[in-house]
Amino acid sequence: MITRLILFILSYALQTLASPTRTSGNTADVARAPATPVTGVIVSDFRKNNVSARWAVGHPMQWGSEDAKFEFPIALGSQSFAGAISGDGKYLALVNGTDVKIIALDTGSLVSMPTYPAKLGRRPDSVRFVSLATGGYRLILGTYTYSAGASNAVYQLQLSSEGLQTGDVGEYEGTISSADTWPFSNDGRRLLTINGVTHHDAYVYDLDTHNTTSLKLTGHTDSIMSSAFSPDGKLVLTAAWDASAKLWNATTGELVHTFENTGGQNWIARFSPDGTHLLITVGTPSIRIWSLNNLTSEPVIIGTKPTYTQWIRQVSFSADSKFLATGAYGKIVIYSFPSLEIVQTWEIEDQGWEISELLWLEGTKRIAYRILGGLEMYDFETNLKYRWGPGEMDHWGGGRGPSGVVKSRGWIGGMDSDAKERFWKYPA
Ligand SMILES: *[C@@H]1O[C@H](CO)[C@@H](O)[C@H](O)[C@H]1NC(C)=O
Ligand SMILES: *[C@@H]1O[C@H](CO)[C@@H](O)[C@H](O)[C@H]1NC(C)=O
Ligand SMILES: *[C@@H]1O[C@H](CO)[C@@H](O)[C@H](O)[C@H]1NC(C)=O
Ligand SMILES: *[C@@H]1O[C@H](CO)[C@@H](O)[C@H](O)[C@H]1NC(C)=O
Ligand SMILES: *[C@@H]1O[C@H](CO)[C@@H](O)[C@H](O)[C@H]1NC(C)=O
Repeated sequence: MITRLILFILSYALQTLASPTRTSGNTADVARAPATPVTGVIVSDFRKNNVSARWAVGHPMQWGSEDAKFEFPIALGSQSFAGAISGDGKYLALVNGTDVKIIALDTGSLVSMPTYPAKLGRRPDSVRFVSLATGGYRLILGTYTYSAGASNAVYQLQLSSEGLQTGDVGEYEGTISSADTWPFSNDGRRLLTINGVTHHDAYVYDLDTHNTTSLKLTGHTDSIMSSAFSPDGKLVLTAAWDASAKLWNATTGELVHTFENTGGQNWIARFSPDGTHLLITVGTPSIRIWSLNNLTSEPVIIGTKPTYTQWIRQVSFSADSKFLATGAYGKIVIYSFPSLEIVQTWEIEDQGWEISELLWLEGTKRIAYRILGGLEMYDFETNLKYRWGPGEMDHWGGGRGPSGVVKSRGWIGGMDSDAKERFWKYPA
């Protein structure tokens, strides 16, 4: 793990990055040596009617063949780059640890550089768009603290529908867990953060008002790794390293229930989109699932050895709650839900690479995920698999890192492990 981390950091240190540019075709990296695609040695592939998936025509595809690419100058050794795309696919936000850029994806041009009250010792390292019903967006910047004594904060910046900054900046205590891609209530009006110093408390903020006082969810005795609002916004679930998970009243902050003695450090907290179940993943490893109808019943436990032997840090329900995709190191297991039969197992030989960003696309037609520095996708209907990733000669990071799988405007892609946003035209 440590070697991987050092490689990951080194690979960024080696980058020489230019200003945001938009390139097309193979002209982007002319000086690059021809590279062999990086792919995993398959132990178990996706299957349809018991026939293994095949590569789609032209795949695996490599960096350099992308249709669009965006980048940002990043200080030597910095890992605090992140990107996000607005829900309507109009804008790309990039952060590089200090600055924020809003780029119009139509033209590839820089629209604005929103500002926030930058503080020494704090670096923005995550960004999320929330679309507003009234037009425009909230841009949520998460920061981390790189010097002792500095506090964390999450900033809310308001953008107009033209991508320009409007209004005041809201500053909220805490940090956003990298495990939680949507740290908001479903309506995008409330934000969940975690105490950035002890990590024991979670905070709920109302983003609509200028109220920067939080509702405090206090009671965990070790780091909260993940938190989530229930689909109706009435409850919050937190999963922590104190071997417990807690369910809270999201309006009053009162503790509703504690799931005790989960048997290990807990990583992920999620509700099924239909609001019937909640789950946590446990480091031993396992996934523990409860029905919201009966919080005191014994959980259903899946994902234990030998299904998984390592931490399960990716779980993704399909929007219709019919499938649960789970990912750990070099392995994805997809269950039907709530029957929990295994319907797909994908596994590579090298278990050092962690799956990240498991994402359902077009309902339950496709699933995308990041592994081995690239983005992969499987199509359940055609039994074809896709990969957009680095070649052996590329400077790329680990299987983890801030990035984003985005299906938008007929493009797929997002932040790659070399801190560049690449997009490919998406197969219809
Ligand atoms: C699936 O195919 C494998 C060989 O690839 C075979 O051993 C196995 O029996 C098949 N399973 C079913 C359910 O047909
Ligand atoms: C972010 O980019 C700006 C240039 O736009 C640069 O001045 C700054 O040093 C970069 N920040 C980091 C942390 O690399
Ligand atoms: C701000 O939010 C906190 C926590 O929910 C609440 O106790 C307080 O009354 C709110 N303040 C205002 C002015 O609404
Ligand atoms: C939260 O607390 C309020 C006030 O006690 C109560 O009316 C509401 O039903 C509670 N919600 C949940 C989901 O427990
Ligand atoms: C909840 O589960 C417990 C333990 O299985 C059981 O004793 C209890 O009757 C159940 N409660 C309801 C309301 O189903």
